[in-house]
Amino acid sequence: MTRLGAYGKGAFTRVREEVTAIDLQVTGVIPNDLDGRYLRNGPNPVGVEHAQFHYYLGAGMIHGVRLRSGRAEWYRNRWVRQSAVSSALKEKPPAYLVLGGMDGASNTNVIGHGGRILSLVEGGTLPFEVGGDLNTIGAHDFDGGLRSGISAHPKLDPSTGDLHTLGYFAGSQVADYNVISAAGQVVRSEPIDLPNRPMMHDFALTPRYIVVLDLPAVFSPLAAATRDPFPFRWNAKSKARLGLMPRDGAAKNITWFEIEPVWIYHTVNAFDLPNGVVMDVITHPSMFAKGRGLIEGHGMPSLERFTIDLVKGRVERARLDATPQEFPRIDERRVGLPHRFVYTASAPDLVQSWSAGPEDFAQLDDSRFDNIVYKHDLDQARSTGRRFGRDAAVGEAIFVPRREGTTVEDDGYLLCYVHDPDRGSSDLVILSAQDFEGPELARVHIPVRVPLGLHGSWIPAGVGDE
Ligand SMILES: [Fe+2]
Repeated sequence: MTRLGAYGKGAFTRVREEVTAIDLQVTGVIPNDLDGRYLRNGPNPVGVEHAQFHYYLGAGMIHGVRLRSGRAEWYRNRWVRQSAVSSALKEKPPAYLVLGGMDGASNTNVIGHGGRILSLVEGGTLPFEVGGDLNTIGAHDFDGGLRSGISAHPKLDPSTGDLHTLGYFAGSQVADYNVISAAGQVVRSEPIDLPNRPMMHDFALTPRYIVVLDLPAVFSPLAAATRDPFPFRWNAKSKARLGLMPRDGAAKNITWFEIEPVWIYHTVNAFDLPNGVVMDVITHPSMFAKGRGLIEGHGMPSLERFTIDLVKGRVERARLDATPQEFPRIDERRVGLPHRFVYTASAPDLVQSWSAGPEDFAQLDDSRFDNIVYKHDLDQARSTGRRFGRDAAVGEAIFVPRREGTTVEDDGYLLCYVHDPDRGSSDLVILSAQDFEGPELARVHIPVRVPLGLHGSWIPAGVGDE
């Protein structure tokens, strides 16, 4: 195994064709109540990579499987047609609104909201709507209501159905907090000053606050001056701080808490305490400290709990699990509420990319060579890893509630793409979340390889056209 097996290579290696396959073979039984699509986005460069290519800038490709009545009706993979993608594919570029000159690849997440399927990326780009068959419809600004892009990790408030979003342009000193109702109306828009110009991949939402991450991976004018399309660097002089903004307040109402420098791509969830907020996160010791690359190494990520105390005016950190892992998900009916279960993933290609060096890598146990989905039971302080094997690349696992199930957290399914090295292609694996160590419920056999990618969602039937 070489240290080159990281983003864009190894299990991340792009595919070169769009495929439609119908009536997929299945091992096991697909639960009848799974009526919808499992969609997952990720960078999949189209055409020739230029010298300054960065994995995070690769064209977005959505991989999806349609499940209905215990059958796997189809698999499709489709590039999201932004103008650069259309040009590379020699198609007529679609006309769409570009905000602030930002036309970044829509490659990071795909969600359902307001009856539409939306492809997302951070960095100022509008969501891109795709149809139920994954063909691109175009940029979507919610009837003109959205005047700034939204990040790839919006939070759906389960009590209202509102979608809370943050967005920013690389280099801008302002981020925009937008709330989009279940009906698809932008009902609130609030600018937040961020003079450090941080990269801000995620945030957190509670019933009382949004938690803003202002961390030291920041816009670098020096890098931008070299026309680096990914001009973010670690700046040790830049403060690391977390901000609590009351949901009905404004930027001037933010209480900031300085913390030791750390990098957070992903929050797990957050919830209110009488005197503050608990926020679980995946922390990295740093990011882009040795340049813009993702394979130079910056130390292992781990699962941590941050307790933000408004009375004491400080943040306490506690490590929940030191095992290298990323891509945290929860039962999203618990967004903003205390959560018991967290699902994460680890893959050898990722562990290598996180290693600060060979010594760092060598210190890990055999899990470094395995593809694992973890389930953490925080009440029991128990973590269980489900191993898929060295070459069975696995990424993010999403939770889907059972339709006829209870509202009890964890009553549902976990879905993830897993590579099958024997077939040289991938499976959609469906697990019972509550019987996490039990047999797989079903394995949908996809006739092609699905590369590792970024994030996805379960899109129930009725969202997006058929
Ligand atoms: Fe992400």
